Amino acid sequence: MSHATKSFDFTDADAAYRELARDLSALLAGERDLIANAANTAALLYDALPGLNWAGFYLYKSGELVLGPFQGKPACVRIALGRGVCGTAAERRSTVVVDDVHAFPGHIACDSASNSEIVVPLLRGDELLGVLDLDSPSHARFGASDRQGLEAIAKIFVDSLGGAGHQKS
Ligand code: SME
Repeated sequence: MSHATKSFDFTDADAAYRELARDLSALLAGERDLIANAANTAALLYDALPGLNWAGFYLYKSGELVLGPFQGKPACVRIALGRGVCGTAAERRSTVVVDDVHAFPGHIACDSASNSEIVVPLLRGDELLGVLDLDSPSHARFGASDRQGLEAIAKIFVDSLGGAGHQKS
């Protein structure tokens, strides 16, 4: 499947996310490798969504978040639970949307161009696998459609890995 020339029309964000979800399901079909599927998910999101400067994963390993596959500038490698936007979403096990990262206590600035951020936890049942993190140079880039759309994307990614007990990396 080629995505080289495909573009998504986000003037109707809900419709665009539905199409993106279908494409991601097709892209990940038949593959369970976490790194491969995380890499393709990050690449698809970064390519498809307008106004991003970072899209990728932090994976939960030995009690902390460790940088996984991503698109964008090099980022900090390890984030403790409860720290920054990523650590907060992981600890709460719920999506965190930040309209202005500079006003978020403890925000970890990896790319000074980032102004808003959304972090979706990756949960397989009760098991925390990591987080999906998107950054934007625009303030308040992420709204309700993004939250709903990206939570659906995160579920497709987690489901692609198969059941508990499967190798994580
Ligand atoms: N800003 C994040 C750190 C990760 S980068 O945005 C890629 C945070 O506060 O957790």
